[in-house]
Amino acid sequence: MRIDILTLLPELLAGPFSASIMKRAQDKKLVEIHFHNIRDYATNKHKNVDDYQYGGGAGMVMSIEPIVTIIEKLQHERTYDEVIYLTPDGVLLQQAICNDLSLKGNIMLLCGHYKGIDERIREHFITKEISIGSYVLSGGEIAAAVLTDAIVRLLPGVLNDETSALTDSFQDHLLSPPVYTRPPEFRGWKVPDVLLSGNFPNIEKWREDKALERTKDRRPDLLNKTQ
Ligand code: ADE
Repeated sequence: MRIDILTLLPELLAGPFSASIMKRAQDKKLVEIHFHNIRDYATNKHKNVDDYQYGGGAGMVMSIEPIVTIIEKLQHERTYDEVIYLTPDGVLLQQAICNDLSLKGNIMLLCGHYKGIDERIREHFITKEISIGSYVLSGGEIAAAVLTDAIVRLLPGVLNDETSALTDSFQDHLLSPPVYTRPPEFRGWKVPDVLLSGNFPNIEKWREDKALERTKDRRPDLLNKTQ
């Protein structure tokens, strides 16, 4: 899989992809992640990438020209399955969207800033608009990092334990049950007996019950989902 990220702040993105699972996925050639600085495609003298909005009003808008130049350059080099714009007014990101995107070959992510991007880019180039939550970030970079991480960890071979992505919270519309590790007792706080019992059917039943209890308590909306 190849992910191209179009950004005004590539330095913001370097960190999340240079350690742990994201780094290993790239080292193992399971994913290629490329950053493109939109400012490199500005043609005006001062390398401006934004301008005042038509009709007046506070806040700058990211200009159409440099963004279209880089999108078309990349599209000329290969076919993209999706050109995704990260924006607070996009579709709310869910595990099912990540599952779907993890099956794609090439995707482009466009990070917005200021008041957003010229609407004509959205109309003519963007195939999906995604929000990572009902709050406004100062730019799309962190959202792009969240989306990329959520996709890449699903690629076959990325996680050591192949089953662990499947047992994540949200994969079956349930939150994960509590987990414990050694010691069995700390300051008098005990690990539930059943987990130490070695009785695997009972352990499985306990985990299912706890997952359901936690979901009912914290995210009852998940229980009404079908699919
Ligand atoms: N850019 C700014 N806020 C955002 C959000 N919540 N999701 C995606 N992109 C954003």
